[in-house]
Amino acid sequence: MASNDESTIEARLAEQEYFRPPTKFVGQANVSDPAVYDRFAEFPAGFEEYADLLDWDAHWDELLDDSNPPFYEWFVGGELNASYNCVDRHLDDGKNRTALRWEGEDGEQRNLSYQDLYREVNAMAAALRDVGVDEGDVVTIHLPMVPALPITMLACARLGAPHSVVFAGFSANALAERVDSADSEYVVTIDGYYRRGDFLPHIEKADEALREAAGDPQVLAWTRHEEPHDSVAVSDDYTMVADLLDEHAGERVAPVSRDAEDPLFLMYTSGTTGQPKGCQHRTGGYLAYAAGTSKYVLDIKPEDTYWCSADIGWITGHSYIVYGPLALGTTSVMYEGTPDHPHRSRMWEIAERYDVDVFHTSPTAVRMFMKWGAEHLEGYDFDFRHLTTVGEPIQPEAWLWYYEHVGGEDAVIVDTWWQTETGGHLITNLPALDDMKPGSAGRPAPGIEPAILDDEGEPVDPESGEAGNLVITRPWPGMLQTVYGDDERFIEEYWERFSDTDSDDPDDWIYEAGDGAVQGPDGYYRVLGRLDDVMNVAGHRLGTMELESAVSEVEAVAEAAVAAREDSEKGEVPDVYVVLRTGVEESESVREDIVTAIEEEIGKFARPNEVAFVGDLPKTRSGKIMRRLLEDISNDAELGDTTTLRDPSVPEQIREQVGAD
Ligand code: WT7
Repeated sequence: MASNDESTIEARLAEQEYFRPPTKFVGQANVSDPAVYDRFAEFPAGFEEYADLLDWDAHWDELLDDSNPPFYEWFVGGELNASYNCVDRHLDDGKNRTALRWEGEDGEQRNLSYQDLYREVNAMAAALRDVGVDEGDVVTIHLPMVPALPITMLACARLGAPHSVVFAGFSANALAERVDSADSEYVVTIDGYYRRGDFLPHIEKADEALREAAGDPQVLAWTRHEEPHDSVAVSDDYTMVADLLDEHAGERVAPVSRDAEDPLFLMYTSGTTGQPKGCQHRTGGYLAYAAGTSKYVLDIKPEDTYWCSADIGWITGHSYIVYGPLALGTTSVMYEGTPDHPHRSRMWEIAERYDVDVFHTSPTAVRMFMKWGAEHLEGYDFDFRHLTTVGEPIQPEAWLWYYEHVGGEDAVIVDTWWQTETGGHLITNLPALDDMKPGSAGRPAPGIEPAILDDEGEPVDPESGEAGNLVITRPWPGMLQTVYGDDERFIEEYWERFSDTDSDDPDDWIYEAGDGAVQGPDGYYRVLGRLDDVMNVAGHRLGTMELESAVSEVEAVAEAAVAAREDSEKGEVPDVYVVLRTGVEESESVREDIVTAIEEEIGKFARPNEVAFVGDLPKTRSGKIMRRLLEDISNDAELGDTTTLRDPSVPEQIREQVGAD
């Protein structure tokens, strides 16, 4: 939750100098002709260029149907299969090319050629069909970074069964909630996986989720090794994927022709209110947009080795490990574990081993590498031509470090702004065309029309240097279709604020991103962060509401509020402010209960930085908690306006209590 007051913005906005893309990069880039921007200025016709990267079973009749905004339809009448596009179609000229190079944390390595991937995806599709999965059924996938994950996703896509991948770090409760919310009758999991040298008994989360879920899904269990790990008990109720695969080895499953508008997957993400919402992505528009931006922005070529260190359990991994790169037929690296296991050079060792050309990571990771020190990169022979960041704003200092130490000053750095909802990059430079500016995401991607509006919905003058609400004024093929099962929430969360919701003129519909942004005099966008009650912890999106409701489940808690504290490594971390029930003493054990509640409801990655016991929370006269004031306290900032508070002395009291903590 970025603060938009002028002093903060100025501090972040000192104009940066430009860096030119190296000539040797420009010479080989997929896009080096600025005419691309003119082609995409033809709206919506420009986007045809992305759809033409795919193989269609039936060509579309209409590029965009915008007669019922915001329910836009893309490539209407077109038919295609995503699994066919990511696998089968590469067999003719590249069946022996490597699709996935997987590295286990324990050092195990697996290379899957496109032919291997084809075989495995077909067998898994046959297995899923065998247990009853049909076109249109939602399959929940709770898998870590092992080949089983993309194989299962592509097998679902082959059958036309939308997948809903739940990040492996999410807890059993979070899994149960997503299974129920999507009415999913199938859960795919694994016995366990490696994390910092330990074998995590991942399957226990499915065991517990099944006890909690209202539904009674069938569970399919992969195993990390050939046999289930000794330390883990796999329930007799589960179907072992290995048995099914044996049974169906060698089988071929015809890819189901899907309507361009049929959903390809759901991806749950945090919002400002209520429970996480299932962003529903369509098959045609999404795949076209993921493939197009992978080619134009990430500059991926079939002969490249590409490595995105994100987790496939988030949208970045969906678009830019699985669907985009595989649609282009490239070699994608996947790593199971953490960057510091067994040593802090692990990433560079992998980059050297596979000779990675294009590397994609998060600002959080860059800050961590920077903190560990450049000496951990020394002696490793890697040579990147293209480096990407995504997920949060990157500070110029971290950008420069990435440029110098990872890029050797001769790679391009591409800062890509987008969201789970947008399917692919929306604001980013095209690396051969636009000069780089540390800390700025840069220009709108081809065909994308963002704007910055003030709170009244009036455009902010780009010359003014003032920040405002980042919005997108025209639809694009990668955009979410709706919130699964809840069209109203879709409108409320993304459109209502700046649109005329009574109008059926698409010009009256404006997509609200929820981010604050400012435009430089050169037109480059700098995204400052969330303006709503959503925070960004190490590039992971968390709703304050979800955290607060987890905390409120602890008996001792009367009331709780969560605020984002700025953190030099993770970007933001949650601080929890708690008022205890009368008669309850503050204690280490209550504090632990609160931390545990968050870990159990959401996951360990959401652990709060601090739990502060306070006498009262800052509230308006109508009883609304003013989280912004708590943020000021967490960040040692000057307190914002307290005049609307019922008791204006509360923030100072809290500050004293916290200070004395
Ligand atoms: C939020 C979306 C998109 C994949 C990963 C996160 C923030 C994302 C940037 C960037 C500044 C960024 C925004 C956005 N964000 N990329 N390059 N610069 N902020 O997806 O979990 O849906 O989160 O991440 O706040 O709204 P997500």
